[in-house]
Amino acid sequence: MRAIQITSTDGPEAVELVDVPAPSRGDDQVLIEVKAAGVAFPELLQSRGKYQIQPPLPFVPGAEVAGVVVEAPADSGFAAGDRVAALPMLGGFAEYVVADTLLTFPLPDSVSFAEGASFMFNYGTAYFGLVQRGAMQPGERVLVHGASGGVGTASIQVAKAFGAGRVIAVTSTKEKGEIAVAAGADEYVLSEGFKDEVKAAGGVDIVVDPVGNPPGGDRFTDSLRCLVDDGRILVIGFTAGEIPKIAANRLLLNNVSAVGVGWGAYAMKRPGLIKRQWEAMEEHLASGALKPVLGESFGLERASDALLTLDRAQATGKLVLEL
Ligand SMILES: NC(=O)c1ccc[n+]([C@@H]2O[C@H](COP(=O)([O-])OP(=O)(O)OC[C@H]3O[C@@H](n4cnc5c(N)ncnc54)[C@H](OP(=O)(O)O)[C@@H]3O)[C@@H](O)[C@H]2O)c1
Repeated sequence: MRAIQITSTDGPEAVELVDVPAPSRGDDQVLIEVKAAGVAFPELLQSRGKYQIQPPLPFVPGAEVAGVVVEAPADSGFAAGDRVAALPMLGGFAEYVVADTLLTFPLPDSVSFAEGASFMFNYGTAYFGLVQRGAMQPGERVLVHGASGGVGTASIQVAKAFGAGRVIAVTSTKEKGEIAVAAGADEYVLSEGFKDEVKAAGGVDIVVDPVGNPPGGDRFTDSLRCLVDDGRILVIGFTAGEIPKIAANRLLLNNVSAVGVGWGAYAMKRPGLIKRQWEAMEEHLASGALKPVLGESFGLERASDALLTLDRAQATGKLVLEL
């Protein structure tokens, strides 16, 4: 089969299109013909040897796919020909991949393969953060930083689908704000000066924060200032570059909580958790209430270009390889 291999740690330019034997499945695994594979930061980091999952060279990257079942265990609920999404963790940038049955999910007919390959990492994180760790209640107001990004747009939609009240997007530009509103936010405010606007509007119950602090800035503290009593800030990532420090007195004085959200490590210790999350979101995925914002699509042979697009921060929407 054709596959993309990382053969060195020389970065995204160095990944290679190769011919390798197709994988065969283990007892609790599904063999999938890949139709689309999501491209994300783990693959970019792996191409430089800088990710926490770094198998010996050479290897085929690709953590999230959608495709058609070729072969599945008899008791798995899957049969040849079924449309599925899956998290193989590795091996997805190829014509065929194997994934654990617990990490393979039925793809609704209304959902494209590209959308299926763009779903679970971002929406699983958003669901884990808002619903599970953040215990979001009906009608609560949610503020989302980095709102035009992958985790951001997923968080907007998960918040709305699971009963949030007003969802406010925070973005660095108007163009990104429009993307967030198109994804389902009620409004956007620009990151410059967002605190005063949000406080003036009465504050929020939950802040979703995949961004952290810009160098020298203190956006995190401004977010804490936006929370009402019993508010929670969900600590998800640090794209702006700096890991915020929390002055604990701010939590005490305002009766608010900072909640860590580390989806992957948590889920890997609990087999079946991701499947249950998929099941909780499935009806909203099928209805279109949860709909990944797609970016550029590339052929398998252009995996290097896809990774470079991500590296240069030129992507708006999820990048996918389509086979
Ligand atoms: N904790 C978990 O379980 C988990 C799971 C998945 C992902 N993550 C993490 O969550 C973060 C967000 O992932 P994502 O896929 O949503 O990323 P993304 O699509 O690239 O979006 C990130 C957003 O961050 C903002 N940003 C601010 N400063 C930035 C900078 N210097 N460079 C790039 N972006 C900057 C941008 O919005 P503005 O320009 O509007 O500010 C951008 O839209 C990443 O750090 C990722 O590793 C965590």
